[in-house]
Amino acid sequence: MANTFGHLFRITTWGESHGGGVGVVVDGCPPRLPLTEADIQPDLDRRRPGQSKIVSPRKESDTVQILSGTFEGKTLGTPISMWVRNEDARPEAYSEMAAKFRPSHADYTYQAKFGIRAWPGGGRTSARETVGRVAAGAIAKKILRRHYGVEVLAYVRQVQRIVATVDPEKVKAKDIESNIVRCPDPAAAQRMIRLIEKTRRAGDTVGGIVEGIARGVPPGWGEPVFDRLEADLAKAMLSLPASKGFDIGSGFDGILLTGNQHNDPFRAKAGKVYTTSNRSGGIQGGISNGQTIYFRVAFKPVATVMHEQDTVDINFKNTTLKARGRHDPCVLPRAVPVVEAMTALVLMDHALRHQAQCGQAISTPQTTSGIR
Ligand SMILES: Cc1cc2nc3c(=O)[nH]c(=O)nc-3n(C[C@H](O)[C@H](O)[C@H](O)COP(=O)(O)O)c2cc1C
Repeated sequence: MANTFGHLFRITTWGESHGGGVGVVVDGCPPRLPLTEADIQPDLDRRRPGQSKIVSPRKESDTVQILSGTFEGKTLGTPISMWVRNEDARPEAYSEMAAKFRPSHADYTYQAKFGIRAWPGGGRTSARETVGRVAAGAIAKKILRRHYGVEVLAYVRQVQRIVATVDPEKVKAKDIESNIVRCPDPAAAQRMIRLIEKTRRAGDTVGGIVEGIARGVPPGWGEPVFDRLEADLAKAMLSLPASKGFDIGSGFDGILLTGNQHNDPFRAKAGKVYTTSNRSGGIQGGISNGQTIYFRVAFKPVATVMHEQDTVDINFKNTTLKARGRHDPCVLPRAVPVVEAMTALVLMDHALRHQAQCGQAISTPQTTSGIR
């Protein structure tokens, strides 16, 4: 089940970078929801390579096709299968990597585990695998928005040392999409774009932080022990290629405060409970508390750099490798829709799990489910 994620809203992704295509099977989607390719394509367009001068120039239209699970524009409750054809495969650019392992990529570990690997384009280690996640996530986002009033967003918070100023309570999708780096702070965005361009010209790569948020999640979603909501979010984010760190709410910075400073005081108004600060990041005891969920995901600088580096070949002989092919100088602008997708998948799964155990048919942002 290594390619499957989720319990009640469950996805299985498939495909390699230079195979016939990539796709996903979504099982557990509720029936009778309006769904066509037009609901999926916009998020795939935000993820696809070739979309701007600061991402991989690989030319893929990433046009999605729904193969099953819908009838006359509505979900059937049966497995929804979606796929995207690989159109711009160029295996010749990877021929040297057939015999040599890219430093800090997954070539060596796949070889060590499976004894075989689809080396063109990195096979399944390629971020093309995330096409399936984004397609499935678009369905989850639509259900969360329409039926639960939950809005899921992500944006670039930091590229190397350039940090944006963003208020997770107020940030809007249109501000995130207003520039090619997907940072809603316009001044920081311009500096980030210049840094990524400069780094690409030098044949190098940079990393940074994507912040994910979910607004309108009602109190009660999540589980108290092993499947804590933040644990499932952490797993979802650390399952992303090139992710290196996750923190939520006050995160690692919270250790600088005392408990008195750090606590989120409760207040009540018109029968609703809220907190006057949100260092918990919207989750307490593994369960959503009704405040905005916000967390950060660190992405490393892309491993494939255009510089000669020490490595070994498949016969374990020391050698060097100067990579070729089309690569992202920084994964962050394309990672934004992927972080949104994984957030939506976790929340959708927990919405159904909460409903299954606690019987809340449809929650609204105002519902204090479970509180009697
Ligand atoms: C949106 C996105 C785009 C990526 N683009 C590239 C790329 O162009 N070149 C590359 O070497 N790695 C790229 N990566 C990262 C690799 O997929 C990743 O480093 C590889 O699977 C090894 O996994 P690890 O870095 O998590 O150990 C990308 C990751 C994401 C999320």
